[in-house]
Amino acid sequence: MNSEVRHAAQVLRAGGLVAFPTETVYGLGADASSAEAVARLYAAKGRPAEHPVIVHFATAEGAFAFAREIPPEARKLADHFWPGPLTLVLKRSGLAKDFVTGGQDSVGLRVPSHPVAQALLREFDGGVAAPSANRFGTVSATTAAHVVGEMDVEFVLDGGPSEVGIESTIVDLTSGIVLLRPGRISREEIEKFLQVEVKNPDSSSPRHSGGLERHYAPKTPAVLVPPHELDREIAKRGAAVAVLAFSKPDERVDYWIRMPGEPQAYARKLYAALRELDGAGCATILVESPPESTEWTAVRDRLSRAAASPAF
Ligand code: TXA
Ligand code: MG
Repeated sequence: MNSEVRHAAQVLRAGGLVAFPTETVYGLGADASSAEAVARLYAAKGRPAEHPVIVHFATAEGAFAFAREIPPEARKLADHFWPGPLTLVLKRSGLAKDFVTGGQDSVGLRVPSHPVAQALLREFDGGVAAPSANRFGTVSATTAAHVVGEMDVEFVLDGGPSEVGIESTIVDLTSGIVLLRPGRISREEIEKFLQVEVKNPDSSSPRHSGGLERHYAPKTPAVLVPPHELDREIAKRGAAVAVLAFSKPDERVDYWIRMPGEPQAYARKLYAALRELDGAGCATILVESPPESTEWTAVRDRLSRAAASPAF
C-alpha cells in the first residue's frame, strides 16, 4: 500500500485524479490548489462548476489554513470529531480559491479518519478537493469496484468497503451553527457536545448540491413505501419490482435485499444495495420506509432524495 500511496500522491501533484477510500464514501481527489486539476475533476464527475467541493486534509491545522475567522465552536468540533465523518463550512482564506468554493465566500473542510486517506493526505501534504467518486447526482461509491468503470480516473486506491457508508455530516459555521447535511454524527450529538441549538438551513445558507431535492439517485425510479403498504404495492406492481426492505423476502419478487434494523448498519449497506438493485433492470425499486425516529435521520435524508414521489 505504501508504494501505491506514493504513486497516488504523485498523480495528484501532476494534476491527475485519484479515487481514494474514506470512512464515509470513496472520494475523487484532485490537487485543491490547481485550477486545471479541479476542472478535470468537475468534468470527470459531470458536476456544474458553481457547486463547491469539500477540501480534505490530514490535520485540522492544514484544514484551518484554508479558513479565516474560525469560531471557537469550529475548533471544538474539530478537536472532538476530526479525524472523522464531519465537514465544517467556514469563511475561506486566500488559499481556498473560487474553483473549490463555487465562487462562494465559504469553504468545506474535512479531515477523514480512514488510514489510507490519512496516508495519502500526509504524503501529498496539501489540500485535496474530493467530491464523492460517482457521477453527479447518482449513488455514491462505497467500494473501489463501484468507482472503476463509472469514472475516468488515473488511479484508484482500494481501502475496502467504507465503514460509515453515507457522506459526512456537514455543519456550516459561517453564521450561527447550521446542519447542511445529516450523517453518522447526528444533530443531537453535536447539540449535546456544544450545548447549543443546531439550526436548519434557510435561503441565506451556502449552496450545497446534497441539498438538491433529487440526488444520490439510482437510474431505476425508487419509491418509498410505508411498511404497511409494501405488500399492496408488490401485489399491484408484480415481478417488475426490486425491493429494499426490513422484512423477509417475498416469493413474488426476484430481487430483494433485506436491510439491517439498526441505522448505522443500514447506512453502511445502503449504496451497495441500491447499486445492486439498480442493476437488476426492474421498472421500480420499492424501498420500505425506515422509522421516523431521529437515529434514522441521515438514512431517511438519502432515501428521500434517491426516491421519486410515490406513484399512488
Ligand atoms: O463524506 C463526504 O463528505 C465525501 C467524502 C469523499 O469526503 N465527500 C462528499 O463530497 O460527499 P460531495 O462533493 O459529493 O458533497 C459535498 C457537499 C456538497 O453538498 C457540497 O455542495 C457541499 O458539500 N459543500 C462543499 N463546500 C461547501 C461550501 N463552501 N458551502 C456549502 N456547502 C459546501
Ligand atoms: Mg456526492
